[in-house]
Amino acid sequence: MKEYTWEDYKRIARDHFIPHFGMWSELAEEGPKLIVKGKGMKLWDIHGKEYIDGMSILWVVNVGHGREEIIEAMRQQAEKISYVSLFGGYAHEPALQLAEKLASILPGDLNHVFFAGSGSEAIETAVKIAKQYFHVIGEPKRYKIIARWESYHGVTYGALSVAGIRQNRNFFEPLVPGFLHFNPPYCYRCPYKLNPNTCSLQCVDELENLILAEGPKTIAAVVIEPVMSAIGSLVPPKDYLKRVREICDKYGILLIFDEVNNGFGRTGRMFAMERWGVIPDMVTFGKGITSGYAPLSATVISDKVFEPFKKWMLMHGLTFGGHPVSTAAALKNIEIIERERLWENADKMGEYLGERLKELLEFDIVGDVRGIGFHWTVEYVANKETMERIPGKFWVAARIEKEMLKRGVYLARASVDRTYIAPPLIATKEDIDFIVDKLKESVAVIQDQFLKEYKGAKV
Ligand SMILES: Cc1ncc(COP(=O)(O)O)c(C=O)c1O
Repeated sequence: MKEYTWEDYKRIARDHFIPHFGMWSELAEEGPKLIVKGKGMKLWDIHGKEYIDGMSILWVVNVGHGREEIIEAMRQQAEKISYVSLFGGYAHEPALQLAEKLASILPGDLNHVFFAGSGSEAIETAVKIAKQYFHVIGEPKRYKIIARWESYHGVTYGALSVAGIRQNRNFFEPLVPGFLHFNPPYCYRCPYKLNPNTCSLQCVDELENLILAEGPKTIAAVVIEPVMSAIGSLVPPKDYLKRVREICDKYGILLIFDEVNNGFGRTGRMFAMERWGVIPDMVTFGKGITSGYAPLSATVISDKVFEPFKKWMLMHGLTFGGHPVSTAAALKNIEIIERERLWENADKMGEYLGERLKELLEFDIVGDVRGIGFHWTVEYVANKETMERIPGKFWVAARIEKEMLKRGVYLARASVDRTYIAPPLIATKEDIDFIVDKLKESVAVIQDQFLKEYKGAKV
């Protein structure tokens, strides 16, 4: 087998590789950030440099890297049979075992599982189930789906139509018709200029007003990510999810929770829905369901939603949905999360992580620090008093990400003005101290640079 050198990889990345949400120019100039090995909380790049993983790579590797048990479960399954499709009533053992496992650990009557390969596919599946459900129960006019502005639910056409991040949508419009949006509970920048401690959740009233304006009998489902991720760890205010549930019930609308990112311990509970005691009609999972050892996602639906599908075929299927090796990985991954009660560590250590991160509020450019469990965000501002946003061209968070890499912390997926912190659920106090100490150093360096450039740009 050919031995590849760093120079080979640099050339290949420049000439043949398209990054996901990444600039080719940077890749061509600096080469790829080439991660080659992982163990526990640690990562190593091609040059042998060591990093601590402060982001579970992409909110994914909940149990940490290099778990032999998961690798062995995947190996054994691949040896037995590496591929069976789930079309037409065929099945394989780990898919059935995992379906039962999910039904047993989820609250309420979320008992019926459809497997897919990615979070986007799980969301599309939920939307398609909602639409077919209303067709076959005799309400075909209920086809509209409501979600929130600034939400991320994936990038394939259906999932992108659900999602509300304007920059992600711009190049691809017109998107699928019938998707509507309302404001998220972004209390730091409340669109109603209200105080979250005293407001009466006008953002939820907005949902009800939208439903009334559109006609309640035209709405199939509302899609909510309990702790919003991309906009930056928006924890739902008290009673928010309960009120959304009540509104859905009042108008006969299905409630879909997207726990692709929140599920499997991330928010300090096995599932975010448990933290707020609200059970949706459908829930989607991805990422942490296998901790990334293999691609997998799932859409789990209630007895009520499943009922008509006892007589109707769900017109949906994916070649790689519920792959045997992935479902075997998920079973072992969930066994580890349960055995080590990893959500408890995320809950307890998450409080410590939050306390430490709030020290960053001393910086002039840190406007807000928010989150829960191991799901935190630092939001940067150009002016703390006016909350003026950092103009995109300064790429402050991306520069902080680079400073962090220099200091041995992997915190990828920075946006223009936000740093996400979401370590594997095994992180210790020492890991957290290391991550936060390095973040403070990095913010100090970039704050200096930014404020000079920004003032210069304003003169
Ligand atoms: C909440 C949420 N939903 C859906 C998705 C889409 O998942 P995927 O990238 O696996 O398609 C993501 C990905 O980040 C997500 O965070």
